Amino acid sequence: MPGSAERPTLARDRQLALYERARKTLPGGANSNFRAWGEDTIYIDRGRGGRIWDMDGNAYVDLRMGYGPVILGHGDERVDDYVNERMRRGVSFSLTSEDEVRAMELLCELTGWVDMARMTVSGTEATMHLMRLARAFTGRTKIVKFEGQYHGVHDYALISVSPNNMADLGDADNPVGLAWGRGIPAAVADTIVPARFNNIERLRRLFERQGEEIAAVIVEPVLGNAQGILPQEGFHRELRALTEEFGILLIFDEVKTGFRFARGGAAEFFGVRPDLASFAKAMGNGYPAAAFGGRRDIMSLLPDKVSHGGTYAGNRVAAAAAVKTLEIIRDTDALETVHRTGRRIQDGLREVVNEAGLPFHFTGHPSMFGIMFVDKVATEYRDWADTDHALYDAIAIGMHARGAMPEPDSREPWFICEAHASDDSVDVAVSAFEASLRDALDARARGELAEGGH
Ligand SMILES: Cc1ncc(COP(=O)(O)O)c(C=O)c1O
Repeated sequence: MPGSAERPTLARDRQLALYERARKTLPGGANSNFRAWGEDTIYIDRGRGGRIWDMDGNAYVDLRMGYGPVILGHGDERVDDYVNERMRRGVSFSLTSEDEVRAMELLCELTGWVDMARMTVSGTEATMHLMRLARAFTGRTKIVKFEGQYHGVHDYALISVSPNNMADLGDADNPVGLAWGRGIPAAVADTIVPARFNNIERLRRLFERQGEEIAAVIVEPVLGNAQGILPQEGFHRELRALTEEFGILLIFDEVKTGFRFARGGAAEFFGVRPDLASFAKAMGNGYPAAAFGGRRDIMSLLPDKVSHGGTYAGNRVAAAAAVKTLEIIRDTDALETVHRTGRRIQDGLREVVNEAGLPFHFTGHPSMFGIMFVDKVATEYRDWADTDHALYDAIAIGMHARGAMPEPDSREPWFICEAHASDDSVDVAVSAFEASLRDALDARARGELAEGGH
């Protein structure tokens, strides 16, 4: 067994220098809190297919894929060539191009249930507009969201997202709306009612008490920011029936699951028809394309009765990327390849973990999965605390030095792209995992790695 003496290390000189430079002008040295990893912040040079290279020339099998959008692979020529051709005609007009119409036609066709949709630049804008639409349509103010779910960075979304300490979420029978960070007005936070995933009975009691104030339930069909914790059998169908019973709209946040779990996203995968949904990520293979859409009677509140705008909404680059990416997803077996590759990686990991004799469960979907070191199946965000995430995090960090890059936080799933099938990505990922697991267990045996989730 390789001990720590053999643990590979990464060249970091250029990135450390850039970090010192960047943090003078960018808070944390990065353009998103989620990328600000202190001295470990990664500065990227380029990506191709399923691989990325940092500024020091270290190569990795990319298992983050930009937090999910790059469904085909980095620098996919089919998409990039089309975008390049379109953008040479000018990029910003605040007028409508045919690609925008085509992109939303494709979105409606692939989902099979969305009647009308509008483009935005980010998933954040998409969920924000959906909440406004739901409030406008129902005349009610409150929105129910599930603990541990992330719907973007607008004020209404940053409630009860992902604290490390579950006690911050309040009593399990009476969860509190926990604002993530300062600056979110209490009046805004008070309109969001936290709920617990996979707990229909609690939801029914909530609706019986407060249903007439609730405009919508927003749900990411799996907990994409908590390792992809899955709904229990029938949960979404029961949620659908319950929301209908109380005249509450059901919003699927398909930012991560859309055009990834199936051509028609998680709605198709789980066989549920929501009223509204947000889309982003996989619809543009990494370009900033996003959208919100749903039932015609609700979407028809636009343009006269509900506000939606955006200088860059439906911009040339995003619209062209969405057209080409969605055509590829519709016309080729790209998604089947992604799913098959995810299963191959899972098979490899399963063998390694079984060999080590550790309890574990896969969460999520082969295209976007987590691995939880725990013996019982997690059903909601609070369960993450009971998993051995210290072990996971140590493995993930060890993998970076072995040429594969999952997020070094167990809550973020591994994302698979089509290009991972066309080289040795699967083998590299599995062997990096195997060696890093051994290292982490050695470290634990030496008392250097905390036990369990603590
Ligand atoms: C489920 C979900 N909804 C919304 C968002 C926000 O999307 P964006 O980062 O494009 O604003 C994310 C981002 O990760 C997400 O995972």
